[in-house]
Amino acid sequence: MKTIQIHGKEFEVSITEEKIQQAVQRVANDLNRDLRGKEVVFLPILNGAFMFASDIFRRIEFDARISFLKTESYTGTSSTGHITQVIGLNENIKGKTVVILEDIIDSGLTMENVIEQVRAGEPAEIKIATFLFKPDAFVKDFHIDYIALKIPNDFIVGYGLDYDGFGRNYRDIYTVKSDKFLNLLIFGAPGAGKGTQSKQIIERYNLVHLSTGDILRAEIEQNSRIGQLAKRYMTNGGFVPDEIVLSMIMLKIMENKGASGFIFDGFPRTVEQARRIDALMREESMPISAMIALEVGTEELKRRLVERGKTGRRADDTPDIIENRIKIYHEKTAPVKEYYREQGKLREVHGEGAIEDIFRNIEGIIENL
Ligand code: IMP
Ligand code: MG
Repeated sequence: MKTIQIHGKEFEVSITEEKIQQAVQRVANDLNRDLRGKEVVFLPILNGAFMFASDIFRRIEFDARISFLKTESYTGTSSTGHITQVIGLNENIKGKTVVILEDIIDSGLTMENVIEQVRAGEPAEIKIATFLFKPDAFVKDFHIDYIALKIPNDFIVGYGLDYDGFGRNYRDIYTVKSDKFLNLLIFGAPGAGKGTQSKQIIERYNLVHLSTGDILRAEIEQNSRIGQLAKRYMTNGGFVPDEIVLSMIMLKIMENKGASGFIFDGFPRTVEQARRIDALMREESMPISAMIALEVGTEELKRRLVERGKTGRRADDTPDIIENRIKIYHEKTAPVKEYYREQGKLREVHGEGAIEDIFRNIEGIIENL
């Protein structure tokens, strides 16, 4: 992953030059289609829009003018609030079609002010073309005629956009890299929904999944030495020895050093394992952030596991092995939860109901870590 540093902050590529150029080309095509034959003046807003304006204007295939505007913002009195003053509007736009070119429309406050002041020049019509648009931040209701790309409400730099004056020269768009390193343990009895919720958490927070069960099952499938060893323990619903599991996990962690975090699924299963993984992760300066425990009643657990057993996905989802797995969970695994409770890292989540509702609760917990 390509990253850059500005004022000590780390940014990573979120939109590549290629994607940007494709999106700009689409807007240029639309403008060529819609405005050919009209008397058009392009009004890019400095500084940010210079890059977009240049790429758009070189693709315009009809005769048109271009004249750059600049905005100056200052805070007015409490009744007038924040004011954006447009300067540089000296081109005669009366009766013409103007296209305001902007790098980004965020809240829409700036653009609303610009539109108002451009309108005073009595153009025949005003079209708005923005390179980026943040729909989640937009609080206004004016119509935007051309949008190259819609983006989430994150701070970005590159392709004309700056962070404290820098970063405008990059050809790609970069998003600030979240410095929050997430190391989550997802916890719960067999059938509590660990795999299902992990999948969503991983997608949302870009974490690396460390499911000891999946890793072991993959080893068994490949019939590797670890796999053969593990198989003996797993088919009886028992535990694979700590040494094997821990070394496998550390291997995966070393393979993914640049990750924004990990989610441990199905591990640690004993207090001893918890102590050891805690020590190892502290050594790597990646301490465990929290344990998310999915709470599901025993009857519901059994029902879910029997259901899953019918699909034949897992050899250990048969009724008597299920009983054994739940029993082991209560005897050996449940104390792990208490271990993290004592550290103030336990977050309990009600694990019955709609998958999306459970996930929303988990999201709330993670945002507050
Ligand atoms: P507004 O909220 O739509 O008025 O946008 C105000 C200005 O904030 C834009 O013209 C940009 O200069 C700046 N801006 C908004 N979002 C970003 C961003 O993610 N990166 C860099 N500048 C931004
Ligand atoms: Mg701007």
